[in-house]
Amino acid sequence: MAAQSATSAKDFFRPLAVGAPQPLREIPFRPSRAIHFFDPSNAKMAAKVPGMVGTVDVLLGNLEDAVKADNKEAAREGLVEIGRSTDFGPTQLWTRVNALDSPWVLDDLTRLVGEIGDKLDVVMVPKVQGAEDIHYVDRLLAQLEAKAGLDRPILVHAILETARGVANVEEICGASPRMQGLSLGPADLAADRRMKTTRVGGGHPGYLVREDPPSPTDPAAGVDARRATYQQDLWHYTIARMVDACAMHGIYPYYGPFGDIADVTACEDQFRNAFLLGCVGAWTLHPKQVDVARRVFSPSADDVAHARRVVAAMGDGTGAVMLDGKMEDDASLKQCLVMVELAEQLAA
Ligand code: GLV
Ligand code: MG
Repeated sequence: MAAQSATSAKDFFRPLAVGAPQPLREIPFRPSRAIHFFDPSNAKMAAKVPGMVGTVDVLLGNLEDAVKADNKEAAREGLVEIGRSTDFGPTQLWTRVNALDSPWVLDDLTRLVGEIGDKLDVVMVPKVQGAEDIHYVDRLLAQLEAKAGLDRPILVHAILETARGVANVEEICGASPRMQGLSLGPADLAADRRMKTTRVGGGHPGYLVREDPPSPTDPAAGVDARRATYQQDLWHYTIARMVDACAMHGIYPYYGPFGDIADVTACEDQFRNAFLLGCVGAWTLHPKQVDVARRVFSPSADDVAHARRVVAAMGDGTGAVMLDGKMEDDASLKQCLVMVELAEQLAA
């Protein structure tokens, strides 16, 4: 039997908290349902950026993968030009810099912070392996911000796209007060894990479970083709790990890219899974995906109306009530408060 202590068992629990779950540290919420990628070295794409201000939560000038090695300088300079000449209004400006072991990243950070640091909200860092990568970026940003006379810290977002990064996800999230969030990078992660896929995000028809065989007395016995199969989500494990680590540190988790631009239905399904598991947004690679992300990562009017009914029915927030034949209590109230809080934040 455990030794008795002077403290009663009750004292081991946190003080009674009525309300939405609170993270340990909170990065101020800004809508970021669609992080829309553009290549600043592509003149046609760059010309569309000013017209997208206000229609998308985040515009991200991409300098890393998908930009040809020969275009790295042009992309960086293109982003400086767009940053200088555009009023971003309510839309955030992010960038994805090159990887920390690349020949370009030092110039990316030096030039962007020096020239458009006052416009840049978040720097997305690819292929983050552990806390040491975030410490490096944090120190460099601090030096560059001081040199540029900036009074607002630029935040950092890490892409989870290596097996080592996944193993170190908690320490990455807690590595700096600048940490804003994490994105799943399913394409690089698949390669790093030596998965046998060739896609950018999404499912795979081979990753499935098949329903049990019918009983031996059934005439259909042994006809495998008649047994239903159910495709499984390749990314469930990683998203769940990412969501827990982000929640623990009060920062935000995101699904990354969905490469099959034509298949908006599968894109919507993948984004919705991420939303239900706790993600707040995803990357969009084509304007078609922006509407999908904005819709999916906003709670539906029905869900919000139901959540408000539960909040009203729960009175002081304790005890249990029956609503539409279902039991609601302190814990379901907390889920409803999360939903209402998000709806209010997005409407603000
Ligand atoms: C994104 O960068 C990915 O690798 O999926
Ligand atoms: Mg990648």
